[in-house]
Amino acid sequence: MRKPFIAGNWKMYKITPEAQAYAKEFKNLVQNVTDRDILICAPFTLLGTLAKEWNNSNILLGAQNMYFEKEGAFTGEISPLQLKDIGAQYVILGHSERRHILKETDALINKKVHAALQNDLLPILCVGELLEEREANKTETVVKTHVVEGFKGLSQSDALKVTIAYEPVWAIGTGKTATPEDADAVHVFIRKVLAEIYDSSTAEAIRIQYGGSVKTDNVDSLMAKPNIDGALVGGASLKADSFARIVGFVKI
Ligand code: 13P
Repeated sequence: MRKPFIAGNWKMYKITPEAQAYAKEFKNLVQNVTDRDILICAPFTLLGTLAKEWNNSNILLGAQNMYFEKEGAFTGEISPLQLKDIGAQYVILGHSERRHILKETDALINKKVHAALQNDLLPILCVGELLEEREANKTETVVKTHVVEGFKGLSQSDALKVTIAYEPVWAIGTGKTATPEDADAVHVFIRKVLAEIYDSSTAEAIRIQYGGSVKTDNVDSLMAKPNIDGALVGGASLKADSFARIVGFVKI
């Protein structure tokens, strides 16, 4: 069985005192949760603080991006080695804001996936279509490309270390959520693609999160779907109490 995996993506929000207050409150709120994996992906500047606050806790720590080289003359970039060093265990790669605002390509994202795994960081690979692509019935084509290109060259054992986040771009930060049925259908399709690349048992083992306006009032119905294994939460992860409620989604 796939353990539910609830992740927060703080994006470019919070400074140190805010992160410290959140860290203490959130740790208390989720301290008894053992049947779900809990992750916060924070800005680079807060990772050291959070790593100290959540040392020996049930809260995992991740970054939101990285470069694919271990070190070198790459001004302004951050390496997988540096993320490991500061205490990150996960890294979000290929988020739609990086694909569309910062023009990251599938080829670049694939290099980053390889580099993360080579340095013992677990990638969350984001995939998802734009509104115009959905309206043109291109959801499956776009998502398939993101998955196939993202996993290119990965062995089966490395593939098993990757989490996928299906984030339809039109649902991010808009208050529009994909219906649980629509999201589940895309997750089923992603599993079919994974089974074609690897095999069905590998496809069954890889966790697929849904992301896009996940909130306290829709998480239960999303998580009730058999192929939705977790959530990648933006706005609603910024407050400790609302994110703790999402982590504690009720099984229906
Ligand atoms: P929102 O939950 O704010 O829609 O953001 C989703 C997201 O992009 C998570 O990575």
